[in-house]
Amino acid sequence: MSMDVHHLAGRPVIIGGGIAGLMTALHLAPEPVLLLSRTPLGADASSTWAQGGLAASLGDDDDPELHLADTLAAGDGLCDADAARRVAYAAPAAIEDLARLGVRFDRTPEGALRLGLEAAHSRRRIVHAGGDGSGREVMRGLVAAVRSTPTIAVVEGVEARQLAVEDGSISGVLASCSTGPVFLATGRVILATGGIGGLFDDTTNPLGNCGQGLALAARAGAVLADLEFIQFHPTALDGPGRPMPLISEAIRGEGATIVDETGRRFLVGVRGAELAPRDIVARAVWNHLSKGHRAFLDVREKPGATFARQFPTIASACSKAGIDPARDLIPIRPAQHYHMGGIAVDLAGRTSVPGLWACGEVASTGLHGANRLASNSLTEAVVCARWVAESVAASPGGGGKPAMAPDLPAPDPRPVRPLLSRALGVTRDDAGLKEAARALLPLAQHHAAASDPAAVGLMITIAALLRQESRGAHFRTDFPHHAAVARRSQITLDAALAAARELASSPMLESAL
Ligand code: SIN
Repeated sequence: MSMDVHHLAGRPVIIGGGIAGLMTALHLAPEPVLLLSRTPLGADASSTWAQGGLAASLGDDDDPELHLADTLAAGDGLCDADAARRVAYAAPAAIEDLARLGVRFDRTPEGALRLGLEAAHSRRRIVHAGGDGSGREVMRGLVAAVRSTPTIAVVEGVEARQLAVEDGSISGVLASCSTGPVFLATGRVILATGGIGGLFDDTTNPLGNCGQGLALAARAGAVLADLEFIQFHPTALDGPGRPMPLISEAIRGEGATIVDETGRRFLVGVRGAELAPRDIVARAVWNHLSKGHRAFLDVREKPGATFARQFPTIASACSKAGIDPARDLIPIRPAQHYHMGGIAVDLAGRTSVPGLWACGEVASTGLHGANRLASNSLTEAVVCARWVAESVAASPGGGGKPAMAPDLPAPDPRPVRPLLSRALGVTRDDAGLKEAARALLPLAQHHAAASDPAAVGLMITIAALLRQESRGAHFRTDFPHHAAVARRSQITLDAALAAARELASSPMLESAL
């Protein structure tokens, strides 16, 4: 790392260079801030891959109350209604913020924002950029804005490995860079590390996102929330490529249908059919595949001739897979796509550890409940980044004394992937979850490369075991109904380890769970 670390001591440190991290840095300006990114900015961020856009009630027929109602309905009783209301009301201004920062949204010939439809939205309210390249365009605009802001020091190729905690508060970041380990003294850390796609075999996300932020926070003692709620996108391109190319829901918004090998629209009996909430569509596709059928998207009639122009990224992925969507059906299967759970935060991003904030997918504000409404996540990242920055700016700086940093191994999620993929997919059950917990425990307890991914997997597994109901994206075949009362869940690493140890020592686990 060709930088003077001591000179940067005391600045807030943002870990992660996706939309949440970049927006937080921009909102903090002119306060000097240090932004750490594992890769060149934007190169491996799931933000860059986002095809769907940002949800905001901007249409003449729309209203934040309608956006709120759709968010709560998709969230299946588990949303924090206050968080959802505040985000829905702040969303239109967040789109203006992005436009002011130079993001070029798709517009009508008259200059109005072009609004798309996605599943479970009662109105057209998805703002796109570059057709299905929304994330790429938003990142282009934000990276340019960050690079031209002199108070934001961006350091690429640096990976945070551990958070230092003194007297219960954050005192620094232990990081690794090309020249070795380094300690960054700071009393203010913002985690914006994204999600957990790299913990699964089938995902639409960069494999480098394997829950690092969750591990950093959990090992610092933070409380995590709703970890069992993992969204599976119903229409990933079913082929050999990993990660799996996403076939955006916006295509179904334009009329594409889901059919099986006989041409039957097997979702027709489901309320909302192809535009039902994502968990419902994913389960229907999964169940159909489990019965030996195949599933396809049919775009030949709708969107039809405009498909390749409207969705150039997807058209290119199809072409690479040898599929001509004008003629062929597109094979699909569900794949891990988004994590509703995360580090428990309030809307200012404050975690349970003083000096630690979280923003974006790594955080759990309660907005998404048990099932995220499509395109609400980029909106949440942009909206909350402002509130996080205000909270960080109002907090005292400080940080620990310069210290030697140990050389900690880079996380290796490979031993964890098959375990989570088997036990924590579209459907779950007691036996599968217990088997995963027993296998993850020894991995999580060792100080090896798989320990952090395993610790994250273990917390998710125990949260899923404890939720003995089906709700939103968490479907238990052994508890197929809602519990009488919807409750958000909370867990710490210590609690997950204790439950798993009890499980390992008593095969029945009845006392622990
Ligand atoms: C999609 O384009 O289908 C994904 C949008 C999202 O995940 O919000």
